[in-house]
Amino acid sequence: MEIFLDTADLEEIRRWLGYGLLDGVTTNPSIMLKDGGYDMEGRAKEIARLVEPRPVSVEVTTNDQAAMLHQARRIASWAANVVVKIPVINEYGEPCLGVVRELEASGIRVNVTACLSFGQAILGAKAGATYVSIFAGRVADEGHNAPALIREVADWLQRWGLPSKIIVGSIRAAIDIKEAAVAGAHVITVPPAFLEKFVDHKYSRETVRGFNEDAAKALVRIEELQALALRTARPIHR
Ligand code: E4P
Repeated sequence: MEIFLDTADLEEIRRWLGYGLLDGVTTNPSIMLKDGGYDMEGRAKEIARLVEPRPVSVEVTTNDQAAMLHQARRIASWAANVVVKIPVINEYGEPCLGVVRELEASGIRVNVTACLSFGQAILGAKAGATYVSIFAGRVADEGHNAPALIREVADWLQRWGLPSKIIVGSIRAAIDIKEAAVAGAHVITVPPAFLEKFVDHKYSRETVRGFNEDAAKALVRIEELQALALRTARPIHR
């Protein structure tokens, strides 16, 4: 299973890359805005350079499908490791699957994004997407069971041998990471703050503190024993 960072924050990307567990990055226009990537092209190129050859997803920003295709090709030209995010439907409910098919047919990798249902995810996969993104937090917002959905889509992809990978996004708590992993996500894209929580544990801190304190006590004990040995070995002067 791969772990992506759901961020446009360069410092965080550098940090998690340094830990050796980053397999890619996802962004969207809201993340770009939040992390100060107002120049989307400039920030996307910086991220792509940082993480290459790992993939970085960058999203189109139009409802018009001809313009979407054009924009997707431009975004894909920014770097070889850029994957273009195409929403499964636009804001008017029109399927964007033709754009997905055309891009994939021309060798551009697509992440079909904003999938909230089984149908959307499997149709994205049928259209030939490299990735289909299931937004777990938003699925839960609507009162549905995100882990069950992830499991159903993962089973379906496996049963019919489709190569699309599920990216689980919209992570809202550390438990969502575990649930997505257990449900069969191929990739989980996580905001840095939740990855931080996922590795932390107050009892681990306490455990390490206890070991460090005992190691320090052992050092003191050694020094005491050495001092005692010196004292007893010293000749007695009358
Ligand atoms: C995933 O690719 C998306 O960028 C992201 O996870 C969406 O999350 P949100 O529901 O918190 O906006």
